[in-house]
Amino acid sequence: MRENIAKNLCKVIALANQKGGVAKSFTTASLAVGLVNSGNRVLVIDNDPQGHASRCLGVRKPEKTIYDIMEKLVKGEEITPNDCMECIVTTDEGVDLLPANVKYAMMELEMSSAMSREHLLNEFVVMQRPFYDFILIDCPPNVGLFVLNALTASDSVLIPVKLEDLSIDGLQQLIQTIGMAKRRLNYNLEIEGILFTIVETNTVLARNSIEAIREAYGEHVHIYDFVIPKSVKAAECPGSGTSIYKYDPNGKVAKAYEVLTKEVLSNV
Ligand SMILES: Nc1ncnc2c1ncn2[C@@H]1O[C@H](COP(=O)(O)OP(=O)(O)OP(=O)(O)O)[C@@H](O)[C@H]1O
Ligand SMILES: [Mg+2]
Repeated sequence: MRENIAKNLCKVIALANQKGGVAKSFTTASLAVGLVNSGNRVLVIDNDPQGHASRCLGVRKPEKTIYDIMEKLVKGEEITPNDCMECIVTTDEGVDLLPANVKYAMMELEMSSAMSREHLLNEFVVMQRPFYDFILIDCPPNVGLFVLNALTASDSVLIPVKLEDLSIDGLQQLIQTIGMAKRRLNYNLEIEGILFTIVETNTVLARNSIEAIREAYGEHVHIYDFVIPKSVKAAECPGSGTSIYKYDPNGKVAKAYEVLTKEVLSNV
């Protein structure tokens, strides 16, 4: 911990796409465990009232959540290290997690009238940076205030894209939103990369869609040259409460997330 305080090496990555069901939460959890398995200290912020990242990490009924932190911040109160300790849980696989549940849905409205409403989450993130190598923020499927808070607090955005639901327009809109967030909220924000998820490999649709996105965006945005394949085991995994590395250690999805982990580590 002391070493990191000196070097300030923490990287904060938001996982965002306004499209639902593209594996944002699954990727957040899998990347988090992958990074922990490689010896890093990782905090996941579940920034979505659906609480899916918490579920993927095996935390189902958290007592205290992101709601409790944001409630204080909205009121303009200072959060203390003790407040943070009370809300952050450590999962069996060694990931620290600020969980979320459905109660958090009410917070967006409360945040909307707060001073510097896009910067609230960043107050918490700034406090946590010294203690972690990576902070991953799982976002809900929209471009509302929760997502703008995540973009303000992050160094980069990782964009999972599911090819079955491909909409180049949707991706265009997201990239524009990220550009606007960079100009108005967080000048240092970068795009970590576009990650193709839940891919039915060997289908013509997958090949054509990947090609189309590479042509449209490849020059300006990093697109990972591997994909996360679709698998039944991955679909079952969130119900197991363990990561894909435990649920199906030799499967193709675990291997693909190991590759993603290495890529993220090589880009710090
Ligand atoms: N590689 C995969 N193969 C098959 N199913 C997968 C794979 N990755 C994730 N899934 C499943 O796809 C579903 C959607 O995943 P996830 O909840 O991570 O998406 P999301 O983008 O976070 O959704 P939301 O937008 O609602 O937050 C989940 O049921 C998950 O188990
Ligand atoms: Mg999700």
